[in-house]
Amino acid sequence: MKRKLLALVLAAGKGTRFKSDKIKVLHPMLGKSMVHLVVDCMFALRPETVYVVVGHQKEEVMQEEYSKPVEFIYQKKQMGTAHAVLAAKKIFRSHKEKDLLVINGDLTLIRPETLKSMIKQHQKDGNTMTFLSAEMDDPTGFGRVTYHKNGLIRIFEEKDSTPSQRRIKEVNVGVYLFKIESLLKALPEISNKNIKGEFYLTDIIEVMSKGDGRVGVCKVPVEQEIVGINDRYQLAKAVEILRQRKIMALAASGVTIYDPSTTWIDLDVKIGRDTVIYSSVVLEGKTKIGQGCQLYPFVHVRDSRIGHQAKILTSTMIEESTIERGAQVGPFTHLRPKSIVKAGAKIGNFVEMKNTVFGRGSKAGHLSYLGDCDIKDNVNIGAGTIACNYDGEKKHKTIIDEGAFIGSGTELVAPVKIGKDSYVGAGSTITKNVSPGALAVSRSKQVEKPGWGKKKRKK
Ligand code: UD1
Ligand code: CA
Repeated sequence: MKRKLLALVLAAGKGTRFKSDKIKVLHPMLGKSMVHLVVDCMFALRPETVYVVVGHQKEEVMQEEYSKPVEFIYQKKQMGTAHAVLAAKKIFRSHKEKDLLVINGDLTLIRPETLKSMIKQHQKDGNTMTFLSAEMDDPTGFGRVTYHKNGLIRIFEEKDSTPSQRRIKEVNVGVYLFKIESLLKALPEISNKNIKGEFYLTDIIEVMSKGDGRVGVCKVPVEQEIVGINDRYQLAKAVEILRQRKIMALAASGVTIYDPSTTWIDLDVKIGRDTVIYSSVVLEGKTKIGQGCQLYPFVHVRDSRIGHQAKILTSTMIEESTIERGAQVGPFTHLRPKSIVKAGAKIGNFVEMKNTVFGRGSKAGHLSYLGDCDIKDNVNIGAGTIACNYDGEKKHKTIIDEGAFIGSGTELVAPVKIGKDSYVGAGSTITKNVSPGALAVSRSKQVEKPGWGKKKRKK
């Protein structure tokens, strides 16, 4: 019969080698913290509950937005991986008949499939415990697996091992599956008599294989699933693997990515089929891009929605904004948070927009600042239009009604409203509302001094 499963993620440690104010497992990999990634992997195994052992910066670990509720266990002092499991002892006492999967909080590249086959083997063989091992070309930093007479298996941590043990290439990955009843019996037998003076969870392998327990070793092919992330260079290498996986998955779903080596797409980003992505594009956070879009080089999008068939031209930045179907943005446009570009609208060269609704079919082709504006449909914004939205203390709104035409070089001093189908003459400074259908011009009369230029040049 299949035993019920609980999962425990160890995330209380500091990760000293990161040399960071932030603990290791909170560092992000393509938009998700390491602990978040590991928790996600646990949920994919459908356990009854996922527990996370927290210690250093526990509030931050607890505040992560996990996809489902997680239970937290507090390990006050970090005295080793076995000590971390002991912190949850009380809880597991009432789950003796179940299995517990324990995983280090930094194993972010392991696929659920690998763990599923481990669970299967564990249950089929009726093991007391099963752990994952892997052959590494470079086993530095990992615990080494050693086999002895009478089925005894021991793990030697790098710091505690002899030079000949260090040559062993089979390593302990950091994933263990236990019958909870046996785990609870064995845990108190672990001592801290080692170089670090810590209670090593790995010592439980010796305890269990020495007794009448049955210890299984599940060897996994390395295939980029087992990477120790102990410093920031290893983090960069692990991110690279995740990045490639994400790009491969998108390509498989019908997205064209011209240059995978320069494209950065966060794990939560969604992209519709037939969208084409040129080189050096960065898509972050909870960005969602529709079908048939085109994203030209150096486009950077964060937490935004882009509708079907939209075109985002070169060197454009879009933050927390929405671009509707068929709209065109860029090149060199900056859409700051809360910009909404409606269907079929066009925003062009060197336009900055913030907290602005830009209506259907409206156009702002060149060199403008549109902040706190409500721009209705089919409006034309001339080159160099500036919404003067800030009086030094407060922000004010500019409303431009349907079909209005704003001439080039206009300053709209907010709060102000430009009426439907009205015209504003080029170079105007508009401080009063403009009535529907009117023409407003506010610029000083041109004066001419005949012969002035000639005289000046003679001097
Ligand atoms: C551990 C294993 C080692 C294995 C390696 C794989 C032990 C003793 N050694 O070593 O055999 O090859 O992982 O990466 O387990 N943690 C706590 N509380 C503690 C100590 C650690 O929650 O008191 C957490 C850490 O946050 C981390 C995980 O446990 O997520 C592993 O701890 P770490 O110090 O990274 O273990 P390693 O020395 O890498
Ligand atoms: Ca580690």
